[in-house]
Amino acid sequence: MSEQTGANILCVVGARPNFMKIAPIMRAFNAAGSGLRASLVHTGQHYDAAMKHAFFEQLHIPEPDVDLGVGSGTHAEQTAQIMLKFEPVLDAQQPDAVLVVGDVNSTIACALVAVKKGIPVIHVEAGLRSGDRGMPEEINRILTDQLSDLLFTTEMSAADNLEREGISRDKVFFVGNVMIDTLRYNLASATPSASTLAEAGPRFTEGYGLLTLHRPSNVDDPTVLRRLLTELVDISRETPLVFPVHPRTRARIRDAGLDAVIAGADILLLPPQGYLEMLGLMRDARVVLTDSGGIQEETTALGVPCITLRESTERPITVEQGTNTVVGTESAAIRKAYREVIQGGGKAGRQPEYWDGQAAQRIASILARWCGGVRQA
Ligand code: UD1
Repeated sequence: MSEQTGANILCVVGARPNFMKIAPIMRAFNAAGSGLRASLVHTGQHYDAAMKHAFFEQLHIPEPDVDLGVGSGTHAEQTAQIMLKFEPVLDAQQPDAVLVVGDVNSTIACALVAVKKGIPVIHVEAGLRSGDRGMPEEINRILTDQLSDLLFTTEMSAADNLEREGISRDKVFFVGNVMIDTLRYNLASATPSASTLAEAGPRFTEGYGLLTLHRPSNVDDPTVLRRLLTELVDISRETPLVFPVHPRTRARIRDAGLDAVIAGADILLLPPQGYLEMLGLMRDARVVLTDSGGIQEETTALGVPCITLRESTERPITVEQGTNTVVGTESAAIRKAYREVIQGGGKAGRQPEYWDGQAAQRIASILARWCGGVRQA
């Protein structure tokens, strides 16, 4: 590494929710005078055009320097494949640090390879905890944080979680939310929902709810999936629903023979949407029903009511300060929360601290100082 070009930070992405997090980080690191330079590895965990290309193009993420092309598999297969294919990349590139984001299998796999090679690991979006070890992401979060040398957090509660797990506060920096950097940067370019819904008919243009579902706990068990879809069909009679369907969910609905449950309902099924289309759909929705982690944060930033179809959240600030209500998956609880939003307008919410579009800048400044310190040590 030379002083002129700055520390070489190898950034990793793998799955859809990583893409919007890496975009502002790459931009900040590659800006003149940052003292850093970023290269990008895509593991290929998500590979469909709709799950990858739309995001790279819309968010102006540079083409990855390396694509590991791992694709789908069981958790063990996917994690192992990423590890096997990532190791030679580290040998070839010899980066000064590896930066991982979020909580997907690519995050833990690359962190584990790097730390065993003595390469410092930086985790962006550290310290979030749902308390539910049945979630694969929770395991990824806990382990990635244990492996990391530098941990950047999105909300204050994360530092307490990390301290409880024995991670020194000296390694932890509260910088805000890079995903919200991306939201603010792109909001003016969001595709108006009307153009996405042009074919959907007048009922949708008068007001709609936006639905996403993909958590294994919701879609892999046919009983839970049937119960959720039945309740959502009921809601759609009053408020039509727009439902961009994740490939996992599409397959589970088909396998469980549940296409008939939603056929004929006022639910518009769409393929996975690009970032700008999804942003427009979220911004214009009356209510969002979701089991996504990121959407809980994006709706808080947008001030749109969010009903989270899970038992817990790793992002408590969206409930305490934002527009989110966590309701679980029982029909009565979903219905009650939906009624409150439709009749009362939902929680007003406010912007959490440092969700201001500058998180990646803070990361770049801290990291440049930290890399300087490591060099001198
Ligand atoms: C992964 C993340 C999850 C994140 C989600 C966002 C883990 C453990 N989970 O879950 O945290 O919220 O991404 O989408 O990393 N598939 C395709 N095309 C693709 C990708 C996947 O068809 O481009 C299908 C395959 O059938 C695959 C299934 O989706 O088996 C699940 O993909 P996978 O990457 O295992 O997990 P996600 O459910 O997407």
